[in-house]
Order: sequence, then C-alpha cells, then structure tokens
Amino acid sequence: MLKVYKNKIDIEFIENINYLLDKYEYTDSLYFYSTNHEHKEVFNNIKEYICKNNILGKKNLLDDLYIVIRCVKKIDNKRSFDVHFDNYKNTFLLPIKIPPIEPKGQFFIWENTRNGINGVLSHIFSKLFYQNFITRFLVRNNILKIFKRINCDIGDIIHFNGFNSLHYNENVSSERRSILIHSNRGIKNSSIINLSEKLSQIF
Ligand SMILES: [Fe+2]
Repeated sequence: MLKVYKNKIDIEFIENINYLLDKYEYTDSLYFYSTNHEHKEVFNNIKEYICKNNILGKKNLLDDLYIVIRCVKKIDNKRSFDVHFDNYKNTFLLPIKIPPIEPKGQFFIWENTRNGINGVLSHIFSKLFYQNFITRFLVRNNILKIFKRINCDIGDIIHFNGFNSLHYNENVSSERRSILIHSNRGIKNSSIINLSEKLSQIF
C-alpha cells in the first residue's frame, strides 16, 4: 500500500501555501484543520489544486476529505515521536517545508501493524495498546527498530494506510510543515470516533 510519488507537486503551489501560513504567528507548533472555517482560504487553495491536477486519483476524491496542516518547530517536543493510528485508511502526506539539516522530522511507519479492525472497540483497544508512553519511549530511544524511515522531499507525496499502520514523525532541527489529506474513514458513523477527532483538535 505504501507509495512515494516523486516530484508530483508544483513548487509555485507549495510557495503559495507557505506564504498563506506565514501570516499566522506561532511559537511552538500549529495545526490547521479543514473542518475549521477560519482558515478557509488555505484549504480552498489546496482543494482546488488537488482537484485540478488530479493529485489523489479520481476515486479518492469521491470521499469527503479531512485535511490537516501540521507545522512543528524545534521547541515543540510533544509532537515528535507521537506514534499513532489515523482514523482514515487513506492518507496523502505532502511535505511543504523541511529543515535543511538533520533531524528533519522525517516520517516513519510500521506497515500493517494491525489488520482486520472493523469495530469501534477493537479500534480503541488497539490504539490504547500501541499508542502509549512505552511505545513513544521505545521509538524515541531507537529501541523499537521495526519502523521504516521514508525519505521524502518537498514536492513528493507519501500515500499510506494510517488506519492499519502505526506511524510518527521524528523531531526537527527547525520548522517542518506538512499537508495531510485523509479520506475513507476506517470506522464509519461512530460518535465516539467523531468526538475523539474533535478532542484531538483541541489537545
Ligand atoms: Fe497520522
């Protein structure tokens, strides 16, 4: 499932999104969510570009897209090594700003960590089992070597199944920005999952 597409995104588009993001001031990290209408201009630009250039392939555009822009600066250690599963089976990761020197906040994945999850309870149980301080400790100290580092440059796209595959970003030496486009919910119409998604936007 995991695929890296090289040089798929135009540099002019990336520069424009960075220009729009530069208008916001933040000291450690900032997440933008497409469900929040406050940042409509940025998300409209992204949606227009991916539709016009058929970036995701036609079948992925049929679903509602949930887009997150992740901006993380060096000072914010909370966001690094945050090992997790997504609520979506399709994620497209587009880095738009990468630190020039290591560590660059690169993406790590353990493909198909869990399979056959189709109920809310098994989803939550396996999240509790894998997404905790022990896993984060093992990853941060490079003890758990099962994760694969995916090198990706500005203009590239990583396509992966974040619902089945545990993943995280390493720390950064300076600011890193990524656009994350999610589609195809792993568990549909669940009020618990909806609530947890809303809470994750706050905390
Ligand atoms: Fe994720």
